[in-house]
Amino acid sequence: MRKLNHTHGGNITEISKRYDLRAEDVIDFSASINPLEMSKKARQIVIDGLDSVLHYPEQFAETLTSQISDFHGIPEECILAGNGSTELIYLIPRVFKPKKALMVIPTFSEYRSALELVGCNTDTFLLSEENGFKLEVERLIGALEGKYDILYICNPGNPTGALVSKDAILEIVDKASNYGTLSIVDEAFIDFVEDESVKKAAIERPNLIVLRSMTKFFGIPGMRVGFAISSKENIDRMMVYKEPWSINSLGSIAAIESLKDTGYMEESRRFVEKERDHLFSSLADIRWLKPFPSVANYILARIKNGGLDADMLFDILAKKGLLIRSCTSFEGLGNRFFRVAVRKREENERLANGLRQVQ
Ligand SMILES: Cc1ncc(COP(=O)(O)O)c(C=O)c1O
Repeated sequence: MRKLNHTHGGNITEISKRYDLRAEDVIDFSASINPLEMSKKARQIVIDGLDSVLHYPEQFAETLTSQISDFHGIPEECILAGNGSTELIYLIPRVFKPKKALMVIPTFSEYRSALELVGCNTDTFLLSEENGFKLEVERLIGALEGKYDILYICNPGNPTGALVSKDAILEIVDKASNYGTLSIVDEAFIDFVEDESVKKAAIERPNLIVLRSMTKFFGIPGMRVGFAISSKENIDRMMVYKEPWSINSLGSIAAIESLKDTGYMEESRRFVEKERDHLFSSLADIRWLKPFPSVANYILARIKNGGLDADMLFDILAKKGLLIRSCTSFEGLGNRFFRVAVRKREENERLANGLRQVQ
């Protein structure tokens, strides 16, 4: 059997061993996590709540689900919490048993892995660099044409950072519905542009499932919390296949507290926007780089010329303790693309300096 592709950023332990660095000396630009880290209030709740691990967590994270419901204005019966959105990415093909899928690429590799496990055939719809990785709605609708059971769109795109408007997503979802295609819209990074979420539309549309992650924006990737929003009927179907206790007690209380910390959320958006603009300009000023505009907390860039590819660049920077995400494993991108997370100003400057010294 073919090995699944689980290449991702954030492998600090492995990389620090490989490059003989101390983990604390590595600056991780390869995983796109909130540069302000987790909410201070959430952190305190986790410390104070350590003893909660002495008991089983709620079977289906009912208290967290209720908090998500209040925060997002979605009925509880239309929400299913998971152990990161990854658990739900793997759950969906098991529940809906698609035979043929279309994925808008370049994108997150786990959709394909999850689909292949249930024997689903996959086609891809390639976004072009010439078009700034913008999704051409009519072309996608044309490609769908009754041929697919399931469609995957990541919005904002990872690794591109490009946003598809809410109206465009809904136009695609509704056309897909006419063809009997279930649309999965992965909004793992939409918190940075929350108004563009199609979360509310998912309540009433039986062919739409929205996936949300709480690990990136809320800075808790080690605690694994995410959720799906869809019609009550779809959530009920997914519940049948869902294991109990997959959201642990600490992840659950951290996520609940994070959703109460509106000050942290506002500050995170402001901070990321400012630092993203600054980092973008620094990258754009490097003559051999082409960065792509992003609405999220990461930037995709291409090495324009010379004999350098993204893996070589990764190696050069890793030796300096700067960890970038080479995008050579992303289907549909060549070997010259890499992605960097937006971090704090001083760290971003160290990255820009490291890059300037390369060629
Ligand atoms: C686009 C996208 N979706 C989903 C995930 C999974 O996130 P999590 O399982 O931490 O919620 C990731 C993680 O990198 C991602 O980039």
